[in-house]
Amino acid sequence: MKTPLAQTPPMGWNSWNSFGWNISDKLIRSTADLFVESGLKEAGYEYIIIDDCWSEKQRDEKGRLVPDREKFPEGMKAVADYVHSKGLKFGMYSCAGTHTCAGHPGSFEHEFVDAETFADWGVDYLKYDYCYKPAAADGANLYRRMAMALRSCGRDILFSACNWGADDVYSWIRSSGAQMFRSTGDIQDNWFNVNGIICSQLDKSPYSGSFCHNDMDMLVVGMHGNSDNSEVLGGVVGGCTDIEYKTHFAFWAMMNSPLIIGCDVRKMTDITKLILMNRDIISINQDIECRAPYVIRQWNNPEKVFALIRPLSTGEYAVGLFNLSDKKAEMSLQFYDIGLPVSSGRGLEMYDCYTHSIAGVFTERYVTQLGSHDCAVFKARAVKL
Ligand code: GAL
Repeated sequence: MKTPLAQTPPMGWNSWNSFGWNISDKLIRSTADLFVESGLKEAGYEYIIIDDCWSEKQRDEKGRLVPDREKFPEGMKAVADYVHSKGLKFGMYSCAGTHTCAGHPGSFEHEFVDAETFADWGVDYLKYDYCYKPAAADGANLYRRMAMALRSCGRDILFSACNWGADDVYSWIRSSGAQMFRSTGDIQDNWFNVNGIICSQLDKSPYSGSFCHNDMDMLVVGMHGNSDNSEVLGGVVGGCTDIEYKTHFAFWAMMNSPLIIGCDVRKMTDITKLILMNRDIISINQDIECRAPYVIRQWNNPEKVFALIRPLSTGEYAVGLFNLSDKKAEMSLQFYDIGLPVSSGRGLEMYDCYTHSIAGVFTERYVTQLGSHDCAVFKARAVKL
């Protein structure tokens, strides 16, 4: 039997956060090289995705999309072949409206010819935006159309819907056939924005699951305020601290969001690499059961300090403790709240996903102090005392 696409959240890199319009054949090839050299590929990152601004402003005489002749002088098939030669997969971008957000041709009323073009080029992933959607067109129907076009184009192309959480997307996207769906506006490289995304998605986790994942947007981990895109993003960029990047990554992983890197991988620091390639955090994100976490809030700081808990296919539970506040804070996880009463005669053996070692066996509760904007993540297993 053929394995369906995106059983677990897709992992890869996308050009938009760091490069915006400033993309090229050379950038994509060097990113593919670095995926292999830096260990990203081995860590599970697979898709190299070109975002908006890759095409000429006009279609050709047959109505087909044309790659920008200066940025991609050898065309897209050559880029795709190169990415494939590294054992990676190749992603591209289009839009459900008449134009992309940056004003290039969109796929509205061209869905089937575009899907065929992407298949001819060897595309494995299509991000599909929502700008310039004709007001009279039904958004759900446009995503169904492109899903139909991709599913009949003769090539496996993962469909990444991007309508920013608009039009109640949670209620219809899974049945459209898309493998992931953007649930938020554009992420920005600063804590204020990342924190806002975290708070907006806490109650949305049940909508995400195998074969159709809630995409909380590309990662800003490791950008440190370096983006060619700051003007497009409204100039509010700023960068995060490494602690904030660690928390951002852990939250996306715990929530089963796709992990799509947005930094310039040629400039990754050692800490950025440690965050992005943490095998234990990635294993939680990639757990085959893709179960949604539930939230346990700290009683005296419920808005800002909480735990996310989810069962893993290994018999363990992923436990993420988060402090979104601007001060150090205590998090006390009462085991009763996660189904382990004292009467069970059991405690939790907690494996720390940052030290990669067992922190100990704890009974009744686990209490810790979390620094401002910091987190702790464990894989916990119930053991007899
Ligand atoms: C936005 C989208 C971004 C990026 C941009 C390109 O709508 O949310 O992720 O793709 O368009 O113009």
